[in-house]
Amino acid sequence: MKYNITIRTLHLLLALIIISMLILGFYMRYFAEAHNISELFRLHKNIGIIALFLVLFRLFIRLLSTFPKMPDNLSKLSTFSAKIIMPLGMYTGMIMLPMTGYFMSCASGKTPNFFGIQLPNLLGTNLENIALFAKMHFFFAIFMSILIILHFCVFLKYLIIDKVNLLKRIL
Ligand code: HEM
Ligand code: HEM
Repeated sequence: MKYNITIRTLHLLLALIIISMLILGFYMRYFAEAHNISELFRLHKNIGIIALFLVLFRLFIRLLSTFPKMPDNLSKLSTFSAKIIMPLGMYTGMIMLPMTGYFMSCASGKTPNFFGIQLPNLLGTNLENIALFAKMHFFFAIFMSILIILHFCVFLKYLIIDKVNLLKRIL
């Protein structure tokens, strides 16, 4: 059994967006030159807002749809981890990353101009909170990077040890 077409499409789209955004974010932090940093920040913020909407939509669809039955030869623990633990961590990261980024922009009083629409400042400008949200954003960026590597290793474990190709369920 497969996930429905909406979840499958969004998995691929968001996997590409989030991995690219992690690379872009770390590039901005450690390597970007002063002359193009504001352009990169603008791109990063706008794509991040798109990612947030896509994740919320995906979560909504996921909660409404049924989880496709796992192959019979997998243990209860494997099924529980694929159904609950791994998605819980992934969705937490996928929501907290753009949210903390957005709150950082609110705290600095520079909410993104999203393709011509000035987004509201939900928290109000408070310079003291910038460092807090920046730390949280960084924490969730590391958390998400580790989780994606683990997610990939778990997929390989199922493929090589259990001889089950779960990719067919989500592609
Ligand atoms: C590196 C490439 C990736 C591979 C090979 C991969 C593979 C898979 C596979 C095989 C499943 C299905 C598990 C099952 O049968 O229940 C799955 C589900 C899932 N993947 Fe990935 N994935 C990748 C990247 C990502 C990324 C970057 C994210 C998010 C940051 C992500 C988030 C999820 C979530 C949340 C699920 C559970 C389905 C759902 O609730 O939407 N994956 N992935
Ligand atoms: C999928 C969503 C996102 C991902 C994967 C992501 C990832 C990252 C990463 C890896 C960094 C570099 C590490 C760090 O300095 O924290 C970063 C920095 C940053 N991100 Fe994001 N981000 C996302 C969404 C957003 C959003 C929506 C905003 C604002 C509206 C935002 C604003 C920023 C800013 C301002 C920085 C620079 C922080 C600093 O210099 O301390 N991000 N992001």
